[in-house]
Amino acid sequence: MPAFSATAPGKIILFGEHAVVYGEPAIAVPVFSNQVRVVVTAQVKKKSGEIQIEAPDISLSTTFEKLEIDHPLRAALKVVLGDKDPTETPACSIQISSEIPVSSGLGSSAAISAAIIRAFSAFLGQRLTDEKISDFAYEVEKIHHGTPSGIDNTVIAHQRPVYYQKGNPFQFLTIGKPFSILIANSGKPGHTREAVKHVQDGWLNDPDKYNQIFSRIGEISNNAKELIEEGQPDKLGELMDLNHELLQALVVSSPELDQMVQTAKEAGALGAKLSGGGMGGHMIALVKDDAERIAEKLLLSGATSTGITTVKNRN
Ligand code: MEV
Repeated sequence: MPAFSATAPGKIILFGEHAVVYGEPAIAVPVFSNQVRVVVTAQVKKKSGEIQIEAPDISLSTTFEKLEIDHPLRAALKVVLGDKDPTETPACSIQISSEIPVSSGLGSSAAISAAIIRAFSAFLGQRLTDEKISDFAYEVEKIHHGTPSGIDNTVIAHQRPVYYQKGNPFQFLTIGKPFSILIANSGKPGHTREAVKHVQDGWLNDPDKYNQIFSRIGEISNNAKELIEEGQPDKLGELMDLNHELLQALVVSSPELDQMVQTAKEAGALGAKLSGGGMGGHMIALVKDDAERIAEKLLLSGATSTGITTVKNRN
């Protein structure tokens, strides 16, 4: 039976999370070691409109019809269907498998949406541009996160490092010299929606203080962009440390993330910070030749898993 498949990578935010929601620039890169894969297979013997969904990683086996109206998986299919009547859609089964841990700051929700949108639109005979896939995934992100900046769907749909500022066209980053980032899971789920709300409450309470923090984070993203493009990645470490301190000031870190940042630094990382929404989830550290030793230290001091990604231009 004809099948259409698509993958989408995870992502890490190198600089600028949270501040990006308030219009400051941020930098994000795709992570190809953790991907989502979606396969849509035509079910020619079944009635039109029967859309079976299997997502064993989240123990979900259901149909489009049975999903709640505001369920993100339903929303991802609905944005592709547009005004089309779902009951007239050719019957199909949709298999979703993900290596991206949920609620971990690695962009699992945007990756699932992007892969579904890419595979399901291909199944329906539409070829969507990356831009369109990003726009559609953004619509679904609103259900997940309330007020997403749009950075997650952008980096994941385009699968390339991006410099992103809300309200401006995003830019692809040219990586002057590849560099390695160690990613470590704190083992505690992150809570992007809550963290974004928490920052919003703080901002409403003390806008001057928060605006200052946001603009300092924005400056860090701009400095980092120059260093990345000029091929001076070693200097990013200091900026990561500063960015982490500012995220601590926004109260979105956690004892586990702070501990991992300290451990990575003591073990020789050039810099480290939380990545994504925070309050749990992942920490990232800039590493050179000693990545494995630093990873071991992190695992001994509580990280539940580690991985290394190389930030480079796409071939
Ligand atoms: C989440 O990956 C990044 C945040 O800045 C939220 C957003 O940009 O939508 C925390």
